[in-house]
Amino acid sequence: MNTTSLIAVANRGLKSGGADVEHLYELSKRRQWNAAELPWHAIDFRPLPFELRQGVAELIAQIHHGELAALTASARLVQSAPDVMDRLFGATQVADEARHVEWFSRLLFELDAPAQVMPKVAALMAEVTAADELELAVGMNILVEGLAQTTIMTVGRALDALTLDGLESLRLIGKWLTEKVAGDESRHLAFGISRVRRLVGTLSAQRRAALEARIGVWTEQLIGLASEQNAGVSAFGIDGDALLARCLADTRSRFALAGLS
Ligand SMILES: [Fe+2]
Ligand SMILES: [Fe+2]
Repeated sequence: MNTTSLIAVANRGLKSGGADVEHLYELSKRRQWNAAELPWHAIDFRPLPFELRQGVAELIAQIHHGELAALTASARLVQSAPDVMDRLFGATQVADEARHVEWFSRLLFELDAPAQVMPKVAALMAEVTAADELELAVGMNILVEGLAQTTIMTVGRALDALTLDGLESLRLIGKWLTEKVAGDESRHLAFGISRVRRLVGTLSAQRRAALEARIGVWTEQLIGLASEQNAGVSAFGIDGDALLARCLADTRSRFALAGLS
């Protein structure tokens, strides 16, 4: 990865980069939360039917792995950003992703059900986090973050709406997913769109075509993974096909906002 020299970063100044990123940075500073403040002592998944507990654990294990990848990716994006404000916002994203890794790790511990990271998820995250700066920003901060944001909002709302007795722990988790985790992911996504939009205008036609080909391959891989997860999300009464269709529509509009097809 190309890293911009610190002298060059300093010379560009605090006000270089997008005004939208400055706004996102202010939001990030105000909306930090503490994963330890969820009342973990009140979380008890033992009343859940085992199949439901395992379904939740399997889904969370994939998201947890994605969060670890996002932690790596966001740290790399801080290192490569030419603008001071992108670095400052990026540092808040690194802190957010660390908090997400902690929160989902605690959740998996409490679920206490066997759950494996799907080999295809591990392979895709390894590929995205090893990509160059531009592909990393697109692959992680638009594609993966976007899919996570749509999925987390949908699953969180479904859990929050559960009315059966003995599912209070799932409702509490659902509330934190929608109000805390998804709120962070929205900022990361908005930052990804801003950063990529500024980079896209500088690309040669050849570079742009290569990027769009890569996006096509990764999108297909993510669709395949989301299809395999349908059984997991169906356990909460979510229509997996409808969720996948929403993820795809959201992804297309995010790429359009970033100036990509
Ligand atoms: Fe995250
Ligand atoms: Fe994120």
